Amino acid sequence: MSGKCRPCHSQPTDLVRLFPFLLRLERIVSLDYYQRHATELATRYQQVSARAVHGDWLTLLEPWLLAAPRRLLDVGAGSGRDAAFLAELHQGNMVVAVEPCQALAVQGQCHTCEAAVVWVNDAMPALSRVTGTFDLILLSAVWMHLPPKSRPLALARLHELLSPDGYLVLSLRLTVSELEMRERAMYPVAVDEVERLALEGGMTLLHVSEPQGDALARTGLSWQSLIIGGEYVRLP
Ligand SMILES: C[S@@+](CC[C@H](N)C(=O)[O-])C[C@H]1O[C@@H](n2cnc3c(N)ncnc32)[C@H](O)[C@@H]1O
Repeated sequence: MSGKCRPCHSQPTDLVRLFPFLLRLERIVSLDYYQRHATELATRYQQVSARAVHGDWLTLLEPWLLAAPRRLLDVGAGSGRDAAFLAELHQGNMVVAVEPCQALAVQGQCHTCEAAVVWVNDAMPALSRVTGTFDLILLSAVWMHLPPKSRPLALARLHELLSPDGYLVLSLRLTVSELEMRERAMYPVAVDEVERLALEGGMTLLHVSEPQGDALARTGLSWQSLIIGGEYVRLP
């Protein structure tokens, strides 16, 4: 039996060396899907309004968003639907749209060319090319692409990028099939997990929506939106 065992002390070293490679590989799998289907996906995402997708949390935050110009960050901005909507909510708004998939970013730039939106090629968890702080950060249908081991780092980086009285909004895809896990590098998500990570990182879960059907009417898909803030932040 001892002949089959590798020395225990070599395992962490191998894993540590492999970790960045594995992370890159996972990102490539999910980006490859978006890269190959960018035009068709962007057309689909543009078929619904941002308001139809984000009605739940907008009910709570829209008056605050309308009250003053805001700095907004849309991570995994896709076709630019939400970035354009956020930019147009107030004349002085400035939106940074982060999109790691080049082909989707091209579509997004096209859909936001008349809005105050700056596109940045970057990805969670590091978001190393994004600077400054933001009053509202939106992750719409993106969290399921992050492997669970990257989520604490991603949330810590989002916390850094959030202004002390700002809001982080996530829409969680509650259903992920085995095929999507394999072919689109998706992972299960849960409100409890996000809440635990937020608490560990000194943030507070301020709002959880009821599970909602899919705005694009795809059968079997349901979503939940969350609003997270800094430790002392309350809903407006
Ligand atoms: C389902 S689409 C959602 C697009 C858009 N937010 C929307 O709601 O229509 C997922 C998006 O997340 C992006 N994405 C995947 N992994 C990411 C990562 N690690 N960091 C940032 N964005 C990522 C994809 O390129 C894609 O644009």
